[in-house]
Amino acid sequence: MTPQYYKIYGNAFFKVLAYVDNGVIKTRTTSLAAPIIDHFTKDMVNIFNDQYPIKLTSNTLYFSTWMPPIPSQAFDRLVDSQMKSMVSETAWKLGIPASTIPDQVTISITEECPNNCIHCALPDTKHKTNLSIPVVKDIINQIVRLGTTQIIFDGGEPMVYEGLEELVAYVPEQTISTVFTSGSGLTSTKAQALSAAGLYAVNVSLDSPHETEHDRIRGRTGVFNEAMNAIGHCLDAGLLVDIYVVIAPHNIYDLDAFYDLAVDMKVHELSFYEIVPTGRWIDHEKEILLPQHRVILDEFASRRHGGPVKVFSIPQIMDVTGCFAGRRWLHITPQGDVLPCACIPIPYGNIYNDPIKDIWRRIQKTGVYRAKSCLMRDSTFRDRFIK
Ligand SMILES: C[S@@+](CC[C@H](N)C(=O)[O-])C[C@H]1O[C@@H](n2cnc3c(N)ncnc32)[C@H](O)[C@@H]1O
Ligand code: SF4
Repeated sequence: MTPQYYKIYGNAFFKVLAYVDNGVIKTRTTSLAAPIIDHFTKDMVNIFNDQYPIKLTSNTLYFSTWMPPIPSQAFDRLVDSQMKSMVSETAWKLGIPASTIPDQVTISITEECPNNCIHCALPDTKHKTNLSIPVVKDIINQIVRLGTTQIIFDGGEPMVYEGLEELVAYVPEQTISTVFTSGSGLTSTKAQALSAAGLYAVNVSLDSPHETEHDRIRGRTGVFNEAMNAIGHCLDAGLLVDIYVVIAPHNIYDLDAFYDLAVDMKVHELSFYEIVPTGRWIDHEKEILLPQHRVILDEFASRRHGGPVKVFSIPQIMDVTGCFAGRRWLHITPQGDVLPCACIPIPYGNIYNDPIKDIWRRIQKTGVYRAKSCLMRDSTFRDRFIK
């Protein structure tokens, strides 16, 4: 039987298609010159080969909460951006500064948050600075023109922002929208409203699979239960749900318990990021993932490859791609400052003064944001720019 094909890339001369065989994604190229084309597209297709989709319908393949569905306008734009990035990489190697596209933009719409996490990248969560709805809409217009394919509403706690649904509904079809949340304030009504507005996925933060430890890290009793309830409401509302774990020395031995919880909760994905010494954690340079912790994370990720829940390990991906800060990522603070990523507190401009396009160009021109790994863990970078 002919499998269902999903188009990854296609032009007048060749197509790269994905299909699912025994639960895993495979790719094939249709062209007379397939072996030659395969050589040029191998980096792109290797992202998909032998990976598990998080959801499959008769005409759509959902690879991850971090990627637009295939096919979609947003996905086509992401592929174009990936191509541009490959050209840019080659140009930089030849000493020619070349621009990339900020695929993923996090907009910190509010500083406000009911929690008080020990590691929060944004240290002033008791202040109430907001980006207003018209300002965020203008940001959305600007970044969509720049080529952004994923807008992540961030905070503070985005659920306390009045009008989040209006912002989600404003995001055009060329771009997916997702949200980082602790789950606080994410009621059933809110989940239904966000889903109706077109939200693609929800990344619910979890720092421990154990209630008391999670609440300790989040600085408030009850946050764990709020997160669990939020997950249930989002799944009921038909949203894609990811449990997003910031891995640190204090939770590295809980990986299997996180996984079991993700399976119990029936979420689509379980993602891992590493703790960054920034914000409230800025002086904890030694309390980050050490090489022996990375061995544990990598062993876990390969052991759990295969489901039922997809494991998405961002540190592992970055080993191959390098850090995306200021290269594929961009962050906007509640004050309107534009940063290379949410964890690098260096503003290169402010949205109230300059077009984002100009600030993005300014970041690119520094040539600094082409790092192999997180610059906030690099003592030379910290000595030069942070201290
Ligand atoms: C700043 S929070 C804002 C959204 C929401 N309040 C939440 O907690 O999900 C976004 C994500 O950044 C993560 N984060 C906070 N501080 C961090 C740090 N120092 N290093 C890495 N990730 C961090 C949080 O755990 C959360 O998953
Ligand atoms: S990480 Fe999120 S939930 Fe925790 S204090 Fe920061 S903004 Fe609030």
